[in-house]
Amino acid sequence: MPLTRRTFLQNAAAVGAGAAITHGLPRAAAMTPSPGIPKPVVVSSANGLRAVTRAMELIREGSDALDAVIAGVNIVENDPDDTSVGYGGLPNEEGVVELDAAVMHGPTHRAGAVAALRNIKNPSSVARTVMERTDHVLLVGDGALRFARAHGFKEEDLLTAKARQAWLNWKENLSNRDDWLPPHTPDDKDIGEILDPLLRDAFGAFFRHTGTIHCSGIDAKGNMSCVTTTSGLAFKIPGRVGDSPIIGAGLYVDNAVGSAGSTGRGEINLVNCSSRMVVEAMQRGKSPEQACLDVLQSIMEHTRMRRLRDDTGRPRFEVEFYALNARGEYGGARIYSGGKFSVHDGTEARHVPLAYLYKKG
Ligand code: GLY
Repeated sequence: MPLTRRTFLQNAAAVGAGAAITHGLPRAAAMTPSPGIPKPVVVSSANGLRAVTRAMELIREGSDALDAVIAGVNIVENDPDDTSVGYGGLPNEEGVVELDAAVMHGPTHRAGAVAALRNIKNPSSVARTVMERTDHVLLVGDGALRFARAHGFKEEDLLTAKARQAWLNWKENLSNRDDWLPPHTPDDKDIGEILDPLLRDAFGAFFRHTGTIHCSGIDAKGNMSCVTTTSGLAFKIPGRVGDSPIIGAGLYVDNAVGSAGSTGRGEINLVNCSSRMVVEAMQRGKSPEQACLDVLQSIMEHTRMRRLRDDTGRPRFEVEFYALNARGEYGGARIYSGGKFSVHDGTEARHVPLAYLYKKG
């Protein structure tokens, strides 16, 4: 039987019995945790310091974790200076910004997602509307845009001058066998030369930005939810969908076990169902950090394509995992050293180092 809004609200109310309902989700009645309920914690990717701060504020006011984490990432989606998410995200190979996002609500085990969505700067909010106002989980492309329009989301051009310049630079330096040329500056340096270092990654290859923001939270009632939102791989083939809107790949929550999500090379998570694997590792008793490391190790064992490894066999890509368990313990890991993630565990928002598989360099 389809889950209607009415039954969804009944489920939510059952989860938060006696609590007021806001935006279809239960608000915690009191901030004092009951015995056995961990204190609220929010984790996010390195670009999520403002997100964890906002999410914790809302959780302290009694919000459900899903309301809180979405409000947190909305800040980054709206920020033109973050070129990996929402407004100002780097575009596809044709210069058009296409966004992916998903949300997952632990208490009801429901999810919503959008992929290859154009012209709407808060895809995470559209994903949440898919969860609440449809019997589907994932809407893509034009259908997702028409759904967002139907719900009153404002359409706007998401390509900022900074993102357009980065796209032009990529296009003009891609090949010497086409007709796109970088402009020359008076001192004979072309813009390509100036921007080139910014566009190269740690491996010296052209930087294919896979920024993204993930945010997982546990609220005052001990309920967990998560969100992942992104503009995806920079300069991708139009229509490319990464891991972020795919439940189990870019994010996953089991309210009794934990919540996890990822940033970095989406294709790796799509073939490994990585976020679900992180949660399953926590279910087997691994700490959040060890669960992330175990999944990275498993990914490496499954990465057989030669072009994805350097001459020493090390990966030529990066992927990060963030995890939070039902006891409020958290951790994160990535392939190479030097990474960090954002945490607010009730004291302050701060960066914490990510564990890693290989020392960089
Ligand atoms: N992890 C983001 C993406 O690959 O699209």
